[in-house]
Amino acid sequence: MSQLLSQIDKGRLPKHIAIIMDGNGRWAKEQGQDRLFGHYHGVESVRNIVEGCAELGVGYLTLYAFSTENWDRPEYEVVGLMELLVTTIRNEVESLSKNNIRLHVIGDMSMLPEYARKELNEALEITAKNTGLNLVMALSYSGRWELLNAVKNIAYEVKTGKLSVEQIDQDTLQQYLCTSEFPDPELMIRTSGEYRISNFLLYQLAYAELYFTNVRWPDFRKENLYEAILDYQARERRFGKTGEQIADEVGSVK
Ligand code: IPE
Ligand code: IPE
Ligand code: MG
Repeated sequence: MSQLLSQIDKGRLPKHIAIIMDGNGRWAKEQGQDRLFGHYHGVESVRNIVEGCAELGVGYLTLYAFSTENWDRPEYEVVGLMELLVTTIRNEVESLSKNNIRLHVIGDMSMLPEYARKELNEALEITAKNTGLNLVMALSYSGRWELLNAVKNIAYEVKTGKLSVEQIDQDTLQQYLCTSEFPDPELMIRTSGEYRISNFLLYQLAYAELYFTNVRWPDFRKENLYEAILDYQARERRFGKTGEQIADEVGSVK
């Protein structure tokens, strides 16, 4: 067993890990290659990290694969990414099923080309009954898009009399997000040395621990994931309380 893996406290794993998979383009450029070369290699990291999370027993893994803003990239890159998405799903669905992994998608599916939507829907159906790791792909997703959608849908329910303004609370809002079935991420990892959220899970990350690494996504492997989890486990999560209060709570549970 790896040195790092043996140090992880299995009883205190983050239930939900969210990752901004960044740096594919720079990784490729650094080797004098085209950006798409980086995206192809990024798939190997996805495979490795999905496997790592499943082995550990993490409940939810959300991967930011394509943002609303990424539609503004050069057309050849967007088309290349869509094709990569479809072939990856096609190639991986069997192994997802074998490993009891359930696929979910969050984002504006109406923006995706028809052939990609079809492939995704099939994969969602095939893995729907799996009970192991929940793998959530954020595709054509952005936090602002999601919040806008939620507000519109809530307003519509009020307009049609199904909901009153007084009834709306944080639970209502949560139910109208694409992530209503998932707990909030406890650990958010971003690769490739950028220190920003880039419109990812804006509401859900309220109390997530943020972890940034310079490693480019195509180089990111299980060992890097273990480092992030160990860093997370060394932190004190206070949720607005004082350190003393947290120490008392931990003491009273023991
Ligand atoms: C992340 O890598 C993948 C996507 C956004 C689709 P990038 O393509 O953003 O790579 P860099 O950040 O330009 O290196
Ligand atoms: C965020 O990365 C989106 C994904 C990883 C899918 P970007 O590379 O698009 O983010 P910015 O533009 O550097 O903020
Ligand atoms: Mg980037």
